[in-house]
Amino acid sequence: MYQILHKEKLGPDIYMYRFRAPDVARNRKPGQFVIVRIAENGERIPITITDVDTDEGSITLIVQAVGKTTLQMAQMKEGDFIPTITGPLGEPTRIEKVGRVLCVGGGIGIAPLFPVAEGMKDIGNHVTSILGARSSNLLILIERMREVSHELIVTTDDGTEGEKGLVTDVIRELVGKGKVYDLCIAMGPPIMMKFVCVLTKELNIPTIVSLNPIMVDGTGMCGCCRVTVGDEIKFACVDGPEFDGHKVDFDELMARLAIYKAEEKEALEYYYSKAGCRLDSTLEGGSR
Ligand code: FAD
Ligand code: FES
Ligand code: MG
Repeated sequence: MYQILHKEKLGPDIYMYRFRAPDVARNRKPGQFVIVRIAENGERIPITITDVDTDEGSITLIVQAVGKTTLQMAQMKEGDFIPTITGPLGEPTRIEKVGRVLCVGGGIGIAPLFPVAEGMKDIGNHVTSILGARSSNLLILIERMREVSHELIVTTDDGTEGEKGLVTDVIRELVGKGKVYDLCIAMGPPIMMKFVCVLTKELNIPTIVSLNPIMVDGTGMCGCCRVTVGDEIKFACVDGPEFDGHKVDFDELMARLAIYKAEEKEALEYYYSKAGCRLDSTLEGGSR
């Protein structure tokens, strides 16, 4: 059993959890994730390990409630226990000295980006981070990302914080001013990663993305997390989740992510009726 040591709300439907999980904390490397089960008969959901504290034996997960299981998790309190945290899983990020690195994070994607930016800076790269969200209340970890970046630029779609616009506008602006980057690492919604990759391909900047297909076992056995990268079929849970963004078939990824929409909606509606709580985004003044 894994105990919630600390829980904090970071924004609408966005929660940070610190779980006691000493073995995971000891073995985790940046870029890896865990599969969590919050109830004995519950489904398995993959969540990236944002941070670890090996002295405390804890891991930090940042989870955006978007459906039944993540909303049920949001109802849990400090001191509660969950039955399963499996991991660390996935191939770690290749932390190498390459020179000037552009770290691009969108929304909840800033959570997995943090340990990668930290690792890239620690090894001696120059890190420029561009963080974007639809609105200021959906921006997370800004101060922590500032600590692990030489330069940090914030954008929001509605202009409520930082520059108004998209992360791709900022990349174009920086390169237009003569800045040169050896590598781009993009993490966020698939549509954001797709358009970052279209741009960085045009600008000739090698780009790594972290893919988030539906996962079940997380160990390469079920085939659920199948993605197409170039002319190869890969399983994101064991071959990834990070891949060469210029080769990823994002349209297929997005289509596969939507396969169970009807069942997910039904499960959420049923949970609403049973638990008497709702996603913030569905309430008046909600953000999504
Ligand atoms: P549902 O209503 O069941 O689903 C909502 C949407 O989430 C679906 O339409 C689908 O696109 C996606 N989804 C549903 N089930 C799964 C599943 N088993 N695996 C993957 N996606 C699913 N989210 C975070 O908030 N923080 C993270 O750090 C994070 N890291 C991730 C790392 C990896 C490697 C992957 C693959 C996903 C990660 N996610 C993360 C996404 C998270 O797993 C989903 O949001 C979650 O599973 C949704 O569950 P639900 O029951 O609440 O929503
Ligand atoms: Fe089953 Fe990747 S989640 S093969
Ligand atoms: Mg679900």
